[in-house]
Amino acid sequence: MKTTKVSIIGMGKLGTSMAVAMAKRGCQVIGVDINPEAIRKINAGESPVEETGLQDLLTQFGRKITATADVAEAVLKSDVTFVVVATPSQADGAFSNHQVLPAVDRIGRALRHKKGYPIVVITCTVMPGTTDTIIRSLLEKRSGKKCGRGFGLVYNPEFIALGSVIRDFLNPDFVLMGTRERKTQKWMEAFYGRICENKAPVQTLTPLEAEIGKISLNCFCTMKITFANMIAEVAEALPGVDAAQINRAIGLDTRIGQRYLAPGLGFGGPCFPRDNVAFRVFAERLKITAFLPEAVHTSNRRQAARVVNRVRAILPKGGRVAVLGLSYKPFTPVIEESQALQVARQLAETQGFRVAVYDPQALDAARKVLPKAVAFAPSSAACLAGADLVILATPWPEFKTLSPTLLEKTMRHPVMIDCWRCWSPKMGRGKVRYWATGLGK
Ligand SMILES: NC(=O)c1ccc[n+]([C@@H]2O[C@H](COP(=O)([O-])OP(=O)(O)OC[C@H]3O[C@@H](n4cnc5c(N)ncnc54)[C@H](O)[C@@H]3O)[C@@H](O)[C@H]2O)c1
Repeated sequence: MKTTKVSIIGMGKLGTSMAVAMAKRGCQVIGVDINPEAIRKINAGESPVEETGLQDLLTQFGRKITATADVAEAVLKSDVTFVVVATPSQADGAFSNHQVLPAVDRIGRALRHKKGYPIVVITCTVMPGTTDTIIRSLLEKRSGKKCGRGFGLVYNPEFIALGSVIRDFLNPDFVLMGTRERKTQKWMEAFYGRICENKAPVQTLTPLEAEIGKISLNCFCTMKITFANMIAEVAEALPGVDAAQINRAIGLDTRIGQRYLAPGLGFGGPCFPRDNVAFRVFAERLKITAFLPEAVHTSNRRQAARVVNRVRAILPKGGRVAVLGLSYKPFTPVIEESQALQVARQLAETQGFRVAVYDPQALDAARKVLPKAVAFAPSSAACLAGADLVILATPWPEFKTLSPTLLEKTMRHPVMIDCWRCWSPKMGRGKVRYWATGLGK
């Protein structure tokens, strides 16, 4: 079978992971970026970003990937072009197109010289109503060709999580596409048939429906997380009540399901918070008040403060707090919208505690944003040394195995705050006091 030639515009966290995953599945990939360092690294077989399994796959399949700054070269040498540039949130919460449109402009100009039926895939998260309007007309204008005849266009978002991007991309629950063209749909279905390792079902909608679907899915996940945290807050006010048990029980109902239904420290990261806000903004533009994302956003913003208040109730000002975990979730160095980082920041900045932090991957990123007074520890044990209280703020596996003996030996007054239910309440014996999210005392 003919090798599929793919170009990817934007070799960041998602684009680079997609490139290695596609190379693994037999594609020839040309990556484009405006960052010369990313291009140099990829061509040298070095990953420009940190992501689970990325460097390994780049080492194995790097010969099938080249990187360039030249969009035209990439488009002309490929059958399909994925646009995976960043779409940061604007002040009003809508996604910005300021990286997307220059990239689309260049793709359109290249399409003018391209024969056959090349396909343009918009993978980045855009506001509903972008692909089939602004993007399509820009491509048509610059290429001089009609969408659906001279080229195909599809919106095709990814539902991946940082830390497992490659696995998620190759094994999605489903593939979502939005296109008006039967020819594009058939080509993309065949493409994903070869790419996915798990025979994922493909859902093809209109571009607008798929754009709404993308942010709706994330909006639903954030609502579920927030619901679980609401039960957690109620349980904490009632002696002997455990929200984890309640969630586990109601999650057995197939209408509800277990995933994302556990007490925790709220959601963060580069997608959930902003997709949730973007849904509200999208509804507002239609003169609809979307109460749900608003309530979810407000509730989520309170999660770090709930933990901080718990610390204040236990420890006098000036006490030493060890915060384990800073990234918004395990297996990633990303601290964007991280609840753990918020906890550390609030304790040090506004509450007058002495704070030490440790994270397996996020220390460098956190150093740039946390107050100077925060101490950065090289290990969990060093972070715990001399602390009055420890907070498990990101559920990295290595924190789960910390022993009560270590806590007793290294901490001054071992108090544990377990935000993710990683430790056992049984650890709260002897000198050690244990408090956990969603567990009433
Ligand atoms: N990272 C995630 O977890 C995730 C998940 C789902 C969806 N998304 C969406 O995917 C998109 C990309 O996200 P990301 O996290 O990979 O972003 P990123 O910031 O890591 O990478 C974007 C890359 O695009 C490059 N770029 C910008 N303008 C360019 C241009 N004109 N030509 C070529 N390259 C250009 C940047 O230099 C950067 O390397 C966003 O819309 C995001 O919302 C991301």
